[in-house]
Formats: sequence, structure tokens, C-alpha cells
Amino acid sequence: MRQTQAFMPTMKEIPSEAQIVSHQLMLRAGLIRKLASGVYEFLPLGYIVLKKVEQIIRAEMNAAGAQELLLPALQPRELWEETGRWEIYGAEMMKVIDRNKRYFGLGPTHEEVITDLVRQEVKSYRQLPVILYQFQTKFRDEIRPRFGIMRGREFIMKDGYSFDKDEAGLNINYQKMAQAYKNIFTRCGFDFRMVQAGSGNIGGNLSHEFMALANTGEEAIYYCDACQVTLKAKESEEAQPATVEKQICSKCQKEMQYSRGIEVGHTFNLGTKYSAKMKATFLDEKGESKPYIMGCYGIGVSRIVAAAIEQSHDDHGIIWPRQISPYQVIVLPLDVTNEPVKVGAEDLYTALKNKGVEVLLDDRDERAGVKFKDADLIGIPVKVIISARGLAESRIEIKLRKTGEVFKLNTEEALSKIKELI
Ligand SMILES: Nc1ncnc2c1ncn2[C@@H]1O[C@H](COP(=O)(O)OP(=O)(O)OP(=O)(O)O)[C@@H](O)[C@H]1O
Ligand SMILES: [Mg+2]
Ligand SMILES: [Zn+2]
Repeated sequence: MRQTQAFMPTMKEIPSEAQIVSHQLMLRAGLIRKLASGVYEFLPLGYIVLKKVEQIIRAEMNAAGAQELLLPALQPRELWEETGRWEIYGAEMMKVIDRNKRYFGLGPTHEEVITDLVRQEVKSYRQLPVILYQFQTKFRDEIRPRFGIMRGREFIMKDGYSFDKDEAGLNINYQKMAQAYKNIFTRCGFDFRMVQAGSGNIGGNLSHEFMALANTGEEAIYYCDACQVTLKAKESEEAQPATVEKQICSKCQKEMQYSRGIEVGHTFNLGTKYSAKMKATFLDEKGESKPYIMGCYGIGVSRIVAAAIEQSHDDHGIIWPRQISPYQVIVLPLDVTNEPVKVGAEDLYTALKNKGVEVLLDDRDERAGVKFKDADLIGIPVKVIISARGLAESRIEIKLRKTGEVFKLNTEEALSKIKELI
């Protein structure tokens, strides 16, 4: 992509409405813009990252045996009344009325819809287990939408649901999903912990939260890495307390580490909470009618983008983990009015593109300082700098965004170095 043709508006000033660094940087780097409170637009650069996150999740979910589908956002009130959640979800659910005065909820989650689908199609234990998932826009009228897309009123979630004939089956699928989640968050470059937690509005008796460690996180956890023991500190959105209570590891008796965390994923053992209420049953081996044993598995796809920035940035901007970076390489001709510099950059850009490298070319007629600032702000991992002085010595400069490490190489060496780096 050429920056002269890209819709990539950057900002020098720190927007005053943004409290945390990921929100500031997402606005400044032109990843998102606000439409209304808790409602955001993903601009092209941000959307590439979102799609990359989605692709990592999709690959791991499919590998774990789950199948993707797409359910409607519009959900009839009657379905939610079967479980009593039309009342329970209350004001957090956005509602609309059709021309015949029928109520619909804009899906904040999809347990009712998926259970309704499966109860119509799966009648026998032979058809079980089944794991289904989707990527979808969810709507939640949060009391305090904040931190940009971190807590939006409209956001992208991956939600998955498993249906089993017995507890043993659910436990297997629950483990599979937990492992898929660990793979996903590792591939996203996160420092994260899996923590046992309560189950809130969604229900069931056991759940686990996946926390990306970050001091702006709304949650707080304790962990002992020696023993893999973790626990939630409290359910609150309060700012960091002045003093953190000590917590002793139940296994090794040493003091646990404390950290704030951003909830990026959540798995629930639902049991028969929804299937019993919705009479969603199958016939077992003995011909007896039984409710499905369910699990559900959510990931905050858009929240991951913000959490990644929260974990990986510096004073100059974003530092993308390679796997979710919108581009792998940015080529910076420092003066496009200098013909050899321009041609050198164009040639390198074409060579990289032909090799299938995701590359951005800053072909704007801007000062070197402006280009460096923007490149650091948008956080592409590998910068390739082409200057008149470098070319005089037949040298191209490769600079790593994260470490600042510099390599000065000729064109051929530069191409193979870039391949090695990405
Ligand atoms: N308002 C929101 N904006 C962005 N992402 C969200 C929002 N609410 C939830 N998510 C993401 O969707 C995932 C699955 O939803 P779930 O219902 O488990 O969330 P939750 O427990 O209500 O989360 P939270 O405690 O942050 O409100 C969460 O783990 C989180 O990553
Ligand atoms: Mg919530
Ligand atoms: Zn321990």
C-alpha cells in the first residue's frame, strides 16, 4: 500500500477524551474513530489488524474441531422470555420494535439463538458433540462505555457454544477450547493468565477468564507462575487500590504476584442452564430424553486490538507484535524529490510486494521527521530507510521498531535480511 493513496489519518496531539494509552494511540494512528458513545468505526489500518486477530482465532477454533456459522443480531423477544433473560438482561440489552410492534433484542450474546437452532436439528446422542462459533457484532448498552473499543456498546465478539451428551464430553470440549484460547493469546503476542472466575449474567457453575496483563486493566488478579495458581482479586472497576493485599500461593506458600488484567476471553461451563429452560433435548442411548450439556466460549476480538497496544507500545507509538501487525515492513524514502531515492524505494517496494511481503511505502512528499514520527506511531515492526546519503555508500538502513537495532546493508543483503526478520 502506498501512503499517498491510503486512508490513514494520523494525529499529532493526544486526544483529550482518551484516558488510556491504547485509546489515544488508536485514535492518533488512525485505527478507529468515534461515532457515538461506545460506538466506533474501524478505519482501514485498524480493520486489517482486526481481521488478522480474527484469522488467528478462526484457525485455532477450526483446528479444535469447531465449525463457523453466522447467527442473526436481531433476536425475537419470545426466545429470551423462555430463559427469563429478557427481564434479567434488562437495560444492558438494546431493543428495537418492528412495524408490527414486535420487540427484538440486538444480540448481546447468543445462547438462546444457538440453543434454539440446535434443539430443532439435533435429536439424537449420535449427532453429538457439536461445537459452533461465529464472529459477530454484539450490542450491550454498557453503563460506562469507556476506553474506546475496550468497553464499547457495539463490538466484535467471537462466541462459541458446545453441546454434549454428558459431563465427560463437556469436560473434554472445555479443555479443548481452553487450549485453543491459550494458543490464540500466545499467537497474539500476549502476556496473559487463565483465571477461574464467577459466571455473571451468562450463568453456569464454573468459568475461566483469560486476562492480558496490563496496569490499565479493569480486573485484578494474583498468580504464582511456579505453580500455575491464579485467582481473581476482586470484581470491580475501581482504580488501582493504594495498597495491594498480600496473597499466599495455596501450593508453594510463597507470596503471589499481583497484576491488573484486561479480560480478553471467557469460557463457561453452562451445564443444562439454557437447555433445561428451553426444553432443548436429545434421545440418549437408552431412548431417554435429556437436555444437552453446554459450554460457551467468548473472545473480545475488537478488545484484543486495544489490549495488544496496551501491552506493546512506547512514548512514540504502537509496537505491533509481528503476528497482528497491519504491515510487516514500511519503506521510507526520506526525500521523494530525489530521483535515485525515489527509484530505489519504488524498486524495493515492488520487490517486496512480489515476494508476498505486506509492505507499506511512505511515498508522501513530507519531511523525514514527519515520516519517522508517523512510522513509529503506527508501529510497523521493520522500517527500511532509503536516503541519498545511504545510497551514495550503496547502503539501505533497516531499523527495528521494537529494539531500535540498525542494519546497514546493500540491496540484496537487505532483501534477505527482511525475509529473515519477518
Ligand atoms: N463492552 C465490551 N466491549 C468490548 N469487548 C467486550 C465488551 N464486553 C465484553 N467484551 C469481550 O467479550 C468477551 C466475552 O463476553 P462476556 O459476556 O464473557 O464478557 P463480560 O464478562 O461481560 O466482560 P466484562 O467483565 O469485561 O464486562 C469478554 O471476555 C470481553 O473480552
Ligand atoms: Mg460485561
Ligand atoms: Zn506457588
